[in-house]
Amino acid sequence: MKIVKEQFAEFDGKVVTSYTMINKNGMEVTTIDYGCIITKILVPDREGIVENVVLGFDTLSEYQKYSPYFGAIIGRHAGRIANAEFELDGVNYHLAKNNNGNHLHGGLEGFDKVIWDTEVVEEEEATSLVFHYLSKDGEEGYPGNLKMKVTYTLNNQNELQLSYEGVSDKKTVVNVTNHAYFNLSGNLKRDTLNHTLTLKSDQFLELDEELIPTGKILSVENTAFDFRAGRRLIDGTVSNDPQNVLAGKGYDHPFLLNDNNNKEIHLFDEESGRGLIIETNQPAVVLYAGTQLEDNFSIRGVKSKKYLGLCLETQGLPDSLNHPQFPSAILEKDEVYHSITTFKFTN
Ligand code: GLA
Repeated sequence: MKIVKEQFAEFDGKVVTSYTMINKNGMEVTTIDYGCIITKILVPDREGIVENVVLGFDTLSEYQKYSPYFGAIIGRHAGRIANAEFELDGVNYHLAKNNNGNHLHGGLEGFDKVIWDTEVVEEEEATSLVFHYLSKDGEEGYPGNLKMKVTYTLNNQNELQLSYEGVSDKKTVVNVTNHAYFNLSGNLKRDTLNHTLTLKSDQFLELDEELIPTGKILSVENTAFDFRAGRRLIDGTVSNDPQNVLAGKGYDHPFLLNDNNNKEIHLFDEESGRGLIIETNQPAVVLYAGTQLEDNFSIRGVKSKKYLGLCLETQGLPDSLNHPQFPSAILEKDEVYHSITTFKFTN
């Protein structure tokens, strides 16, 4: 398999490099070492026309100016942490406040805004990019020196695997994900409201007005949150369910997955014939329907707007530190955190 390496930008006296992995079907995945951002994924539609299916930019300055986490790795802790604080073994930790007095997506300079060291691993049937970053004790308020390793692997079955590993020298919290915004229409021809999503999920988390989990777990039954038999994203925009309304007419919610590594998430665009199957070892997926996407910038010539892309962020539950009934995000000293997600593209 092929890999193309190019200079993308300069930042902080360092070079930002882009890497494009290309498989034998002509599928391409481009990433940069700044934030491990996936800038492009080119996949064929049902006619074989190869187009880009993620929101991204061609310059670093646009990422720094406009990007709401397009394609980036999110950490140390994805999602919101209420009042930017939590307690661990009797110690109160105060995190960076970057969202209405709350902590969001790792803080002011999270994993999405740093340059990672990169290694290329080439094999016959797959290519990998291995990114390393040391998140220092106290960074954004989190305890422990956390050594992170993120591996993106593309194979000839049109599968992109994302593997996240971390080890800390102190007890800490870790909940990492990727924040790709998908749009399967190709080169952003249409918004995502006619995409169909199928989710193996019976339950989702209730959110408050600040989009923080209340602690209540709700059933999807008889709501616009029931994606079990497939549902178009547009349903969330016309629903009167207070949960859809508070998310800005749509979705910004964690869903608990009934199953793992078994086609639990399926996104499909009927018009192009492109599909995306996501499998993970994580307990939840946050469906963010792009409800806060602003329209004051363009994305490779297409004006940004609400619902232009949607995120399927596989992860642990947000704010679990403040809800003991949720699966825990605590990582013990020297324990290995390992989260895996695979994106398989079909046409
Ligand atoms: C997440 C959050 C959203 C929003 C986006 C970024 O997915 O849940 O509320 O902050 O990131 O704009």
